[in-house]
Amino acid sequence: SRSLISKIEAKRSEALLGGGQKRIDTQHSKGKLTARERIELLLDNSSFREYDAFVEHQCTDFGMEKQKITGDGVVTGHGTINGRLVYLFSQDFTAFGGSLSKMHAQKICKVMDQALMVGAPVIGLNDSGGARIQEGVDSLGGYADIFLKNVLSSGVIPQISLVMGPCAGGAVYSPALTDFTFMVKDSSYLFVTGPEVVKQVTNEVVTQEELGGAKAHTTKSGVAHLAFDNDIEALARLRDFFDFLPLSNRAEVPVRPTHDSSARADPVLNTIVPADSTKAYDIKDVITRIVDDAEFFEIMPDYAKNIVIGFARLGGQTVSIIANQPLVSSGVLDINSSVKAARWVRFCDAFNIPLVTFVDVPGFLPGTTQEHGGIIRNGAKLLYAYAEATVPKLTVITRKAYGGAYDVMSSKHLRGDANYAWPTGEIAVMGAKGAVEIIFRHVKDKSAAEAEYVEKFANPLPAAQRGFVDDIILPSETRKILIKDLQILKSKKKENPWKKHGNIPL
Ligand code: COA
Repeated sequence: SRSLISKIEAKRSEALLGGGQKRIDTQHSKGKLTARERIELLLDNSSFREYDAFVEHQCTDFGMEKQKITGDGVVTGHGTINGRLVYLFSQDFTAFGGSLSKMHAQKICKVMDQALMVGAPVIGLNDSGGARIQEGVDSLGGYADIFLKNVLSSGVIPQISLVMGPCAGGAVYSPALTDFTFMVKDSSYLFVTGPEVVKQVTNEVVTQEELGGAKAHTTKSGVAHLAFDNDIEALARLRDFFDFLPLSNRAEVPVRPTHDSSARADPVLNTIVPADSTKAYDIKDVITRIVDDAEFFEIMPDYAKNIVIGFARLGGQTVSIIANQPLVSSGVLDINSSVKAARWVRFCDAFNIPLVTFVDVPGFLPGTTQEHGGIIRNGAKLLYAYAEATVPKLTVITRKAYGGAYDVMSSKHLRGDANYAWPTGEIAVMGAKGAVEIIFRHVKDKSAAEAEYVEKFANPLPAAQRGFVDDIILPSETRKILIKDLQILKSKKKENPWKKHGNIPL
């Protein structure tokens, strides 16, 4: 009937307004967009198909039966980003502070289930005051339902969290379980307990921003992968990021046609590594000179900067870059860089993204802080991740590959498919100075011994003679060679022994 249709339409318009104009204005005054405005910017024009716009909470305690907001604090559905399917949920802070009720959780679970079923990524835009206090244990159950789905979807579909407001208490564990956690500077924070509780328990006085803001999590804790200046930038960059991702573990990596020739040689690379092996250079210059259109999407750029990770494309297809950074602590491997790279390698392996590793590593960082912090256990993560990975693995040793770190960094021995060294490569147990100190301890004039060591070991020939590197290549030719290898390795098939799951050192 006509009256029913107008009632439906009235409800629908209500849903569009969330918690009402006044609260929308408050949201805007904080420099934040609304849940729906964010979806508008993230998805392709008019691609959004909303689910559950009519859902309301079912709580009858604390007078809640008189307070209903159509949609119940979260907008869910699917749409496309540059034509590719994505499921999403966007929490609406204007409705009960975006807090999570039983029905709110159920809406999120519905899109997560469907994404898993069809094989498409899930993006969560988090902006929430946490568990809906009036609902008590129902909302805790709702969180756990989401966590379980996060875990079951892990390695099957990419999951991304963009934190755009508060996210505290139990709520933090969904972003933590997803593959990537991005944050917006100054308006988002993540913590298990807020500043008030911290003060009560530990007497520590700290602001929200210091405790769990974007800076803290992208520089100190490593909880978040990227920080963006504002909502608009965050959503635009998320679209770029999405373009690199396969839709699921059964999908191929996306290919974006490029005008950058696969045969392009870059003579600058032939002299990019300084002749003096103690001098630094920026590995990002190497990366951008090799990949398509000099485009490198770096992940965790401000955390453990001694290793560089991110997406790029070679011959159009997405590849994963992992590179020691000689510019920061000589590119040494330590606890944080090992963990950073290990999780990245595992993400890429789960989603069929080839690994391209650039090696210039003087070894593992010595000292009690590292040893007592568990560098053995944590360094083993990266070793484990590379060893178990069955995607195409290409390795280029640009300079140092010393000690155990040589083995770890996608070496031939860990099933590297194509391992190359540049003529500047030095593959040895350790650098000449340290080595001579040990094996020629009693010799007075160490300079002759050092020269002999350099002559014998500070070059790529010994490794090439043993087949540990497949070839010594001209740096200028690297792009061409890697692209050719990737084409050949497209049909690579490799499986690990059957197991329930491995036991990566955690
Ligand atoms: N449950 C129910 N309602 C909540 C809520 C929650 N967890 N968090 C916020 N709200 C409601 C507020 O009551 C308020 O409602 P109103 O618009 O009808 O007045 C609205 O959401 C906005 O919250 P407000 O406190 O005014 O916003 P703020 O920006 O000043 O502060 C928070 C945001 C998140 C810091 C604050 O709301 C807060 O501390 N919430 C509780 C956090 C918490 O402890 N959650 C449980 C742990 S999991």
